[in-house]
Amino acid sequence: MNASERACILRAEIDEHNYRYYVLDAPLISDAEYDRLFRELQALEADHPELVRSDSPTQRVGAAPLTGFAAVLHVTPMLSLNNAFADDEVMAFDRRVREGLAVDDEVSYVAEPKFDGLAVSLSYEQGSLTRGATRGDGSRGEDVTANLRTLHSIPLHLRGSGWPELLEVRGEVLMWHSDFVRMNARQREKGDKEFVNPRNAAAGSLRQLDPRITAARPLRFFAYGIAVAAGAALPATHSALLERLAEWGFPVAPERRRVSGPAGLLAYYADMGARRVALPYDIDGVVYKVDDLAAQERLGFVSRAPRFALAHKFPAEEAITTLLDISIQVGRTGALTPVARLMPVFVGGVTVTNATLHNEDEIRRKDVRIGDTVVVRRAGDVIPELARVLPERRPASATAFVMPTTCPVCGSLAVRNDDEAVARCTGGLYCPAQRKQALLHFASRRAMDIEGLGDRLVEQLIEAAIVRTPADLYRLGLLALANLARMAEKSASNLLAAIEQSKQTTLARFIYALGMRNVGEATARDLARHFGSLDRLLAADQGQLLQVPDVGPVVAQCIRQFCSEPHNLEVIAQLRAAGVNWTAGEATAPVAGSVAGKLFVLTGTLPSLGRDAARQMIEAAGGKVSASVSKKTDFVVAGAEAGSKLEKAQSLGVPVIDEGQMLALLTPGRSVP
Ligand code: IVH
Repeated sequence: MNASERACILRAEIDEHNYRYYVLDAPLISDAEYDRLFRELQALEADHPELVRSDSPTQRVGAAPLTGFAAVLHVTPMLSLNNAFADDEVMAFDRRVREGLAVDDEVSYVAEPKFDGLAVSLSYEQGSLTRGATRGDGSRGEDVTANLRTLHSIPLHLRGSGWPELLEVRGEVLMWHSDFVRMNARQREKGDKEFVNPRNAAAGSLRQLDPRITAARPLRFFAYGIAVAAGAALPATHSALLERLAEWGFPVAPERRRVSGPAGLLAYYADMGARRVALPYDIDGVVYKVDDLAAQERLGFVSRAPRFALAHKFPAEEAITTLLDISIQVGRTGALTPVARLMPVFVGGVTVTNATLHNEDEIRRKDVRIGDTVVVRRAGDVIPELARVLPERRPASATAFVMPTTCPVCGSLAVRNDDEAVARCTGGLYCPAQRKQALLHFASRRAMDIEGLGDRLVEQLIEAAIVRTPADLYRLGLLALANLARMAEKSASNLLAAIEQSKQTTLARFIYALGMRNVGEATARDLARHFGSLDRLLAADQGQLLQVPDVGPVVAQCIRQFCSEPHNLEVIAQLRAAGVNWTAGEATAPVAGSVAGKLFVLTGTLPSLGRDAARQMIEAAGGKVSASVSKKTDFVVAGAEAGSKLEKAQSLGVPVIDEGQMLALLTPGRSVP
């Protein structure tokens, strides 16, 4: 047997053992035997580098570190699920489904665990893993391919047969409890930081620029759906789809069940609630999905969530502790929020020391006094909340809280408008607290995404009067930064690189980053899509703003107020002058990619995609395919032996692209071979 044949056999054997160990949880050989096979393949590949293939099991160990993550546009957005907590919300969901489908009979659902990890998307071309991305804001995530390749439960190459030419699998990365405990013990021994819970550990491990760090962390993956499948017919039901994913080598939750009607859903919920503590990983509820995929399509989506699925969450965890004090936090828009300072207590997977009290009325309604024994509640990622006090345990020394009439940070008057629940500091950007929050928001991941500009650093920059507005960030120099306490030169230059990189953004992100009151991510996206340019948004009057979906009079007024403030316009002008810019394509159609509405014509034989697969991909990205070339055609995709359509395109001056260029257009951020 020659080296190439032996390498081939070893690869297949190791893959099989990997699969048995990590996916089926049924190993056939000992760790020592596995290591022997692995080392033999490593040695063989070292002697014959020409035999190394990117999907070889030896290539999981972690590639060279990156300087940053490339952006990935999700052609099919990664949406979220509507939540339910109570049984009647589940009944209402089932009712809406039956109404939507116009059926009286019981609907078949698949019920699955709701994994408490982080969502990722995996792309396979011709069966090989080509890209893995985080969810990000749902439309744009980060390219973490090198990191995801290190997870043994993610197939580098699909098993079995009948896979689509292009497949995008969605699922969750998480860490098992036992692995988490072991890993934290190791962190402790090394004197490194411990993680608070498996979810944070999984998220922190995946977003590492050095894939070798991810490789050393025990991450797992579960697949729960398919976003794109081009070039192969898929089964008709979600349950069969999950079986198919399992055949292709993906771990799929063994706890999944087909159930019928609302009674079936609630019985599953109760069963999983009881089994929850015994599961090897964290779940924060269960997910129900209509089984019939055609029915799913008919039901469709409302806003950013499917009508055919529901997350039924477990109740938030509660714990009892003492309220030590109430302090005031000043938010980005000046809102004064009372915050409960608590005796540390472990709840919902983390140690909680602060909990929000929302506003003055809430404190009065709950009759909260400093010194009280209180119940704290925390669910998932949500900010901990002070649920209620236990008056029977109130000490005589407990004192009532008085809301301040001035801002505790800048001393400006705090005013509460009649129609608002909160008092606000009137200091505007004169107030260092508001300035700090505005800068942190501007730099946050879903806004301008300036990595390394954290809480402490922003405070230092404001204290030293180096930065007052977001525009000042783009004037920072190495010297000013390196002079700050605890700032190493390396971190300073990394930060400057991140600031430089942030200059290239999208209109939606930029609008969101400006931090107008009541303009969240979704509204910013709607505004970008509607106006298509910042200048049109800045010039829009109330009536024009009200034409934007979901923008009502209050939001419109907030936007008008922001845009008529000369100071804000000056900061925007300075940001533009500093080189902050955005791409019109992404800005106008962030969800569907840059080809939304574009007209394609396919001609000739493409090297890897069939005609149908190419058409499905274009349509999935929001483009259209037509049979003949005209002046209206945006692109002609030409393969081998293209004939008259190619000639016509050339004579009309229509751009002609090949398959690689087409794929790059459909999935920006992807590297073109
Ligand atoms: S299906 C349209 N199934 O929950 C969304 N999601 O709120 C389709 N999640 O970020 C998602 N377990 O990461 C689905 N069995 C499951 C899930 C699940 C956890 C997460 C997912 C997403 C969030 C949705």
